[in-house]
Amino acid sequence: MRTKPKPAARSGTRRVLKTLDRVLSKAGVGSRTEARSWIGTGRVRVNGRLIQTPDHWVDIERDKVTLDGKPVLSQERVYLLLYKPKGYITTYKDPEGRPTVYDLLSGLNEYVFPVGRLDQDTSGLLLVTNDAQFAERLTNPAYKVAKTYLVKSATRLSDEQLDQLRRGVTLKDGPTRPAEVRRVRDSGAHTFFEISITEGRNRQVRRMVEAIESKVLKLVRVAIASIEIGGLGIGKYRALTQAEVEQLSGKGTK
Ligand code: URA
Repeated sequence: MRTKPKPAARSGTRRVLKTLDRVLSKAGVGSRTEARSWIGTGRVRVNGRLIQTPDHWVDIERDKVTLDGKPVLSQERVYLLLYKPKGYITTYKDPEGRPTVYDLLSGLNEYVFPVGRLDQDTSGLLLVTNDAQFAERLTNPAYKVAKTYLVKSATRLSDEQLDQLRRGVTLKDGPTRPAEVRRVRDSGAHTFFEISITEGRNRQVRRMVEAIESKVLKLVRVAIASIEIGGLGIGKYRALTQAEVEQLSGKGTK
């Protein structure tokens, strides 16, 4: 089925348009396939109107989407910072029954979704929200928001290898942007270093380290832009402050 062309934004307005199936999956209620089936079986309404085409365009700022009568795009914005433990996945449901970050977020009345992904074996800072525009700004590489990781490598890395990461390496999906890299310490046969990247490709840091002939043994995301994981306990979450939300939205001072 072909998607209808995206309606043009009216001049002077800033609209974020997404297809209905994508809105539901981004809102964390289920996979895109599940969303398509709910839409097809008449469980979804947009502004009170029953919509049964998954490719229906939705203005995520203005339209009211409900699933079984429950608002999916709530007006109440939620912004959380979670310390994702290793072993947890960031999707809503896992057919294999692995723990998901939603197991750590019980008690929330809103549909929320993770801002970007962290691999199952990666721990650290994961933002969770129901604000798709906020998430878009943080995940779209065009905005160049820095994500900082602490890495333990399988081998001791030379200055030249760290320089290669700084300059950018070539991966199968193209060269990486220059990165900020700081050696933290060497310990036995390992190097601990911090790397800040402004893209978010699949398994990017792991693949970058493989490109310099080593391997990642441990990966922790410690910051997004100037927001740090700090002393938060593993598996715990806290609300972002208003100032932090503004900073991450590009409104505050960095
Ligand atoms: N880079 C990776 O390789 N994995 C992550 O989870 C995040 C960044």
